[in-house]
Amino acid sequence: MKLYIETLGCAMNMRDSEHMIGELKKQGYASTDDAKEADLILINTCSVREKPERKLFSEIGQFARIKKPDAKIGICGCTASHMGEEIIKKAPSVNFVLGARNISKISEIIHKDKAVEIAIDYDDSTYVFDIARSTGIKALLNISIGCDKKCAYCIVPHTRGKEISIPLDLILSEAKKLANSGVKELMLLGQNVNNYGVRFSTPHPRINFAGLLREISQIDGIERIRFTSPHPLHMDDEFLEEFASNPKVCKSIHMPLQSGSTKILKSMRRGYSKEWYLNRALKLKSLIPNVGIGTDIIVGFPGESEEDFKHTIDVLEQVEFDTLYSFIYSPRPHTESYGWGEEGKVSQEIASNRLATLQSRHKEILRHKAKEEIGSFHKVLIENVKTGEQCFSEGRSDNGKLIKIPGEILKIGDILDIQISQNDGGSLIGRFVK
Ligand code: 5AD
Ligand code: SF4
Repeated sequence: MKLYIETLGCAMNMRDSEHMIGELKKQGYASTDDAKEADLILINTCSVREKPERKLFSEIGQFARIKKPDAKIGICGCTASHMGEEIIKKAPSVNFVLGARNISKISEIIHKDKAVEIAIDYDDSTYVFDIARSTGIKALLNISIGCDKKCAYCIVPHTRGKEISIPLDLILSEAKKLANSGVKELMLLGQNVNNYGVRFSTPHPRINFAGLLREISQIDGIERIRFTSPHPLHMDDEFLEEFASNPKVCKSIHMPLQSGSTKILKSMRRGYSKEWYLNRALKLKSLIPNVGIGTDIIVGFPGESEEDFKHTIDVLEQVEFDTLYSFIYSPRPHTESYGWGEEGKVSQEIASNRLATLQSRHKEILRHKAKEEIGSFHKVLIENVKTGEQCFSEGRSDNGKLIKIPGEILKIGDILDIQISQNDGGSLIGRFVK
């Protein structure tokens, strides 16, 4: 039997898809890239913004037209969680709906018809591990599920439920298994990774995220640890110092800002101010001069004035982010700000202009930083090699930069010293320093 799976959204969804592929493999399914020949079609959805969600139904229609007559269609993930049965009502070709918190039930639900499993109080925290991983040297590893925050714009607490940390012994045994199978780099996953230890579903010794990093870094074979996403509010000194001093922890970090205005941060219920964010980011930069910092920013949140937007630009300029994911605010059902209606609404035109301003300022900053990169050295984990006339090797530096090494066939999995020789605005170009 053949499985076709489409994955939208974040790293959490990628891991959930891997998990489903692993479970279904045990049921006799092999993956295919061609939906026409599949016996089971899964869409693992994201609901964080409205547009992809709107596209879901036309996509289901397309799959329904091309699929084999007996093939089943399952809608999984965050949109499944929040729309539930409505999906089957709107699209009768759908056989089942499986929420983001219920992914471990995939093997049962495929045998049912018109079934809906979306309970967000379901404890999936001990079932999230499985053997199927997509790469040999890098692996995704959940450390918590759900989210306890109440950010006014965000649908995720509604789709993924309350936060539960995964027990330490489970994480460590999975990490050891991965190390034994050749994995060198772990990406720890959670909606709020640095809130680790806040709640377990069974009695558990006290531990925080810094403690978890210390424990994982003891594992032989695991050479690099990354994580996504930490919350700026929980970036206390212990966390920053562990991040800076632990040699296995990669020096790149995603720090979702959302807005640089303390007023807007307050109405977003982010729990921190512009000053706190800047203090944490600048402390990181002073502890680790070449740290890579990425961020998420929303423009056009209700009530955002030109003055508020200037604060966002100010943070962008002070932190000089290496990566930026920027979005226009999209009102989502089941969120606090959805209920605000027209109040303080920022027009689409103003929001688009702010987005363009933000992105072009970011590009300028990157161009400026790029010049400073030439000649610098990086430890690069070789992840990809292309042979042939135009041969090259490729990998990521400790601080998260994609680096291409033309003309060299290096060994996948090695961590090598690379010096940057060129920066063409895309990936950095480097050479292997023997
Ligand atoms: N509108 C726009 N962007 C959003 N995000 C989350 N919710 C919304 C929304 N309603 C963005 C945030 C988050 C990223 C994953 O998506 O920036 O960090
Ligand atoms: Fe991931 Fe959030 Fe999208 Fe769910 S809604 S898939 S948690 S980004």
